[in-house]
Parts: sequence; structure tokens; C-alpha cells
Amino acid sequence: MTIEKLERPSRIDEERIQKLKELFPEAFADGKVNFAVLREEIAGLDEELLEENEEEAYGLRWVGKKEALRLAFTPPSGTLKRVHGEGVNEENTKNILIEGDNLEVLRLLQKSYKSSIKMIYIDPPYNTGDDFIYKDDFKDPVDKYLQKTKQADEEGLLTSNPKTSGRYHANWLNMMYPRLKLAKNLLKDDGVIFISIDEHEIFNLMLIMNEIFGEENFEGLITWRRRHNQPNDKTKMIGKVSEYILAYAKNSQKLKESGVGKIGLTGEFSNPDNDPRGDWASKPWKAGSGQSGTRYTIISPTGVVFNEEWMGDEETYKKLLEDGRIFFPKNGSGLPRKKYFKFEREEEGQCATNWWSHEEFGHNQGANDQLTELFGFKNIFSNPKPTLLIKNLIRIANVKEDDIVLDFFAGSGTTGHAVFELNQEDLKLRNFILVQIPELTPEDSEARKHGYENIFQITKERLARSISLLNDSSKDNPVPHGFSVYRLDKSNLRKWTNYIGDSVVSLEESLDLLNLSPFNDGWTEEDVVIELMLHQGYPLDSQIEQISGENTLWIVKHDNVPFNMIICLENQIGKETIGLLINQYKNHLFICVDDALSDQAKILLSETMKVKTI
Ligand SMILES: C[S@@+](CC[C@H](N)C(=O)[O-])C[C@H]1O[C@@H](n2cnc3c(N)ncnc32)[C@H](O)[C@@H]1O
Repeated sequence: MTIEKLERPSRIDEERIQKLKELFPEAFADGKVNFAVLREEIAGLDEELLEENEEEAYGLRWVGKKEALRLAFTPPSGTLKRVHGEGVNEENTKNILIEGDNLEVLRLLQKSYKSSIKMIYIDPPYNTGDDFIYKDDFKDPVDKYLQKTKQADEEGLLTSNPKTSGRYHANWLNMMYPRLKLAKNLLKDDGVIFISIDEHEIFNLMLIMNEIFGEENFEGLITWRRRHNQPNDKTKMIGKVSEYILAYAKNSQKLKESGVGKIGLTGEFSNPDNDPRGDWASKPWKAGSGQSGTRYTIISPTGVVFNEEWMGDEETYKKLLEDGRIFFPKNGSGLPRKKYFKFEREEEGQCATNWWSHEEFGHNQGANDQLTELFGFKNIFSNPKPTLLIKNLIRIANVKEDDIVLDFFAGSGTTGHAVFELNQEDLKLRNFILVQIPELTPEDSEARKHGYENIFQITKERLARSISLLNDSSKDNPVPHGFSVYRLDKSNLRKWTNYIGDSVVSLEESLDLLNLSPFNDGWTEEDVVIELMLHQGYPLDSQIEQISGENTLWIVKHDNVPFNMIICLENQIGKETIGLLINQYKNHLFICVDDALSDQAKILLSETMKVKTI
């Protein structure tokens, strides 16, 4: 076993460099990469892989891309703090609502949720010219974020990105690119990401998605009719009634192996002939144009003779007829049709297509009405999505019991509400993680008039109200709905907060490192435990137990991590505690304050456990 000093979080995805080093050790000398050697090595393997003209290589370029890439690899500098009492049914739920900028939150989730999320749905700003987008700060992201949340100025946290800005598309891409890169790491191998978008950025989005996820993992582009009525705008040649949902798998093959989901039944079923097998619908038995069929003669019950190419051979036709599965419309004079029964279709389900109508998948007006009904007044949030739309995405992504759905542009919290509704419908317990920035609501908005200062408050309230509604609609509800709340904040560890980028801030602040307490003012034991969980890769729904004895110990367990983490944050650790650790926690991880153990105790403990000190 070992003793280690707890290091600042490492660069995200650092293991890729490690892998490269392992694969091409020749290309690394003195800790630097030698590209000429790397090229030679690759050329040796397969000359064709090398791009002849790198300058003109295919791909999307824009101003700031390099910086955006760096943002994606920058280690997190903050932490998440649990906010007790702001959620619902907090102790019995794995659902999580996080207040904060999603880039830093995605960084913080990298270790604990790597390859753990079954489905991501996001509905980012579409960059219409009227949208506000978050301007990432490379240096000191959490401090800047916290400063901005305290400035209740006009623009608040997000800045406008008008079409007149010289970097209109680049600004949006710079915001999206690092987030999508980090999002991919969180997806399970059979996971799926859906992104709502419209014409303003669909083309750029597809190019960066092809780059990040790979063209081979493109699953489809759904066109969703979002308007229920027909616009008649004389200023336009083409009225806008639809938008898109772009779908990529993390790994298309693995997704198919694990199975895609089906949507609810489409089509109208009825039982005009009182068939004992119940409701049915029908489709033509005659082969359509472009379809090949078998030609023979069929005579209808009223004696009409049809000589056509049919969908199946004569033998099959006779069997279907005998089984009462052939139907002749027009009172027995029309072309034969094949009946299919609702119960059969329900069993096999129906594959989704890339056209989603407003009748079947909901529309904007319906989504607004849903919110009006929940809050009791109109226009609390602009352009929420209907829960019906998101529920169907969850269905086709095949999100099962215990799987996690992540939405890091949560808005009014539709994704959380959709998860609750679907769970209640099919009695499965799926979980969600939502992230929403506390973007200020406009001063003259209905939301502000009703006391909602920022959008995060709306998300939280919407989740709470949808739980009440669902619980009321089914009094003996067997599905426990709930969520707990976390907030992005500064790290609790003093030695980690005195950095900007990779270097210590200033002499004064570095002297501050000598301060006796390793923790920043205002720390609590629970805050530090959660920070260490994220640092060491324990998900937020880990089981946390507190044991009191000579010292207070925090025991953190999760099925995804092979060993438990035991934490003691007191300044001195006694003999009894050391004995307990050695006897009961062999091979587990122990974290404590550096000075709390004598050198001898450290050696003793490290013989049976992995020890890390703060
Ligand atoms: C289009 S809305 C999502 C609407 C949502 N699908 C619904 O049905 O209510 C996008 C949301 O992302 C939030 N947002 C924008 N930038 C963000 C950031 N950097 N971190 C977290 N949330 C952000 C905005 O405040 C806004 O509420």
C-alpha cells in the first residue's frame, strides 16, 4: 500500500497522453512530443493515414478553437456543495439538480460519472442573435463565475451575442465545443446524446459533432414540428414551423448491440367488424410502386376481380384470409388490405422515424400550457419543450431502470419532469442530473413579477410542483419522485484555490498556503467529503455514513468503485481510530489531514490501506 499527498485535480483526459506514450514511446523525449518521430512511426505503420497537406485538411476551423480545446482539458477548480432542504424527498432519491455554469460542472463530474450516463439531452441557446451565452473564463473560472453571480447588473451571467458581432458563430462554437467534448466522456458506451437546434447553427453543430463523436456515430436528425398552428407571416417566404433534434451515439455499434428503444404506437386502431382479437388497423396487400410482389388473381366478396402484384404469395394470402386477416373496404368491393392488431404492435413496439409531428410528440403551445398549469400564471419561461417530446427521446434511447439522463442546459426543468412522468407511467426508476445557471430573469418579466429572480429558481420550483402534481394524481404512487440540490462553489481546499491556471497566484497568497488550516474559511466536513468524492471518482449518490468514536470517520461507498473511502478531517487521529482502520478497512482508501498522523502511524496504516493526506 502507499502514502500519497492529495494532488490538485489533474488535467481532464490526461490518460490519453499516457496511452499515446505507451503506444509511441519513441516519440517522447524529455517529457516532450517529437512530431517528426510520431509521423515517421505512423508512416511506418500505414503511409495512407498521413494527411499530405495539413494546411488544407478537411474540418471546421474558427477563431478561438484552440482555446476552446484547452478549456475542455482544464482541470476543475471548484466543487459542488450540497444544499439541504431545497429539494424534495432528498434522502430517497438519486436525482440531482445542480446550480452552476455547466462547463465547470461537467469538469467536476468527469471522474465520478465517466462512461456512466445513458442519455444526454440538451437544448442550448440556438444563437438566434437574441440569445445570451456564457463567456468562459480560462483563468480562475469559478471565482469569475461567483463574482458574476453576485453582480445583479443588466446582463448578469450571460452576454448577448448579436449577429452583428464579428465573431457571432465563433463565440457560439467556443461555448459549445468544450462542453460537448466533456459530455462525450460521460456517456456510457451504449449511450446517446440528443441536441435540440434550429437553422442558425445546425450546420456548424453537425460538423463539430462529426469531429467529436465521429460521423459513424451519427444516428439521425429528427425534424420536429413544434407549432400546432399554421403561421401566416407576410414578411417571410417560408414560415417556420419546425426545428431539429440531432442524435449521436457514443458508439453506434454498442448502442445497437444493447438495443434501441421504440416509441408509442402511431396510427389509428379500431374494431369495425367486432374482431374478437380487438382493435386493428390495416395496410394495402397490393405491392406499392417500386416494391416487387407476386402476381395472381384475387376476387373480392362482392365478386370484383383483381389481377395485381401482391405483397405475399398466394399460399400466404390464403392463410391470412382463413385467419380473418384480410379486409375488403368499400363494403367488400375495394382492394384487399392486411389487418394488424394493436396488441401485436404493442408487443413489438414501433421504430422511431426522423419526422416527429406535433400531434404525437407535443408542441410549443402545449409546453407553455403545461407550465401555466403548474405555476398558475402565463409566460414564466420562454420556449420550454413539451415533456412528451423528451419522454419519447428517453424511450428511443432505451433508458432503463437505474440509468441516468443528463441535461446540462436544464431551463425550466422539462427533462426532470419528463423522467418523473415516464417513471410513473411504466413504474421504472430512471434518474436524472440537471444543470442550470442562475441566469437572471428579465426585470419586467412575469417570472420576476412573481418572485423568480433567476432561472435556477424556476427549474427547482418546476421540479417540486411536478412532483406534487404527479403524487396527487396517483395517491398510492409506488414511484418515489424527488431530487436533491447542489451548488457550484469554490474549492474547500486552500492549497487548490491559490492557483490560476497552473501557477500559484502571488507570493502573498502562496504564503497563505502556510496557514495552519488546510481548508478555506466557512468549510464544513460534509462539503469536504463531497469534494473528495468528486476528486476520487465517487458519484454523488454514494452512500455516506458517519461513525463517531475517538474520531469522527466518514465512510463513502458506491457499487461502481471497488473500495470504500474513509475520511477523517480532525487534527489528531488517536490510537483507537488507527486500530479500527487497520482491523476493519483493510485495502480501502483513507484520507486525512497531513499533520493528523505521526510518521510512524502513517507507515503503520499504509501497510494495510492506501493513505492520502491533505
Ligand atoms: C433553451 S433553454 C432550455 C430549455 C429547456 N429545454 C426547457 O424545456 O425548459 C437553455 C437554458 O440553458 C441555460 N444556460 C445557458 N448557458 C448555461 C451555462 N453555461 N450553464 C448552465 N446553464 C446554461 C439558460 O439559462 C437556459 O435556461
